[in-house]
Amino acid sequence: MKLDIKKFPNKILRKKASRLEKVSDSDRAMLRDMAETMYLNKGVGLAAVQVGIDKQLAVIDVGKGLVKVVNPVILTKEGKVIEEEGCLSVPDTTVMVKRSERITVGFLNENGDVSQITAEGLFARAIQHEIDHLYGRLIIDYMSPVKKLFFLTKYR
Ligand code: NI
Repeated sequence: MKLDIKKFPNKILRKKASRLEKVSDSDRAMLRDMAETMYLNKGVGLAAVQVGIDKQLAVIDVGKGLVKVVNPVILTKEGKVIEEEGCLSVPDTTVMVKRSERITVGFLNENGDVSQITAEGLFARAIQHEIDHLYGRLIIDYMSPVKKLFFLTKYR
């Protein structure tokens, strides 16, 4: 089922999402719907808060297969890269964002098993972007003060 994507300045996007104790059937259904919604919108990642759900769930696909993560945590990081990013919740806006180049992430998979992945490049960037969403952070938080001020005038 395609879900409705919440857009800035919707307040849920600023919420720190709740961690899951365990992964239920309804969480698995939500991850499926989130993936469908991501693909239909041609995104490379989507976090549950973006569809109005206060849970630490995210899906990522940068073209190398779908990854579903629950309660993701960055365990190690290496290097820094600055690249342009967009976000389905902040349409028509791109921001240069400095991210770690290579990361290891711990999470629960959709069956609730403890898992770990190593990612680099766009994959690493997309995961970090989605983890930001789970903590209420958005790409606009990486704008220079002048660019952010200009951006915010559109919402006054
Ligand atoms: Ni986003």
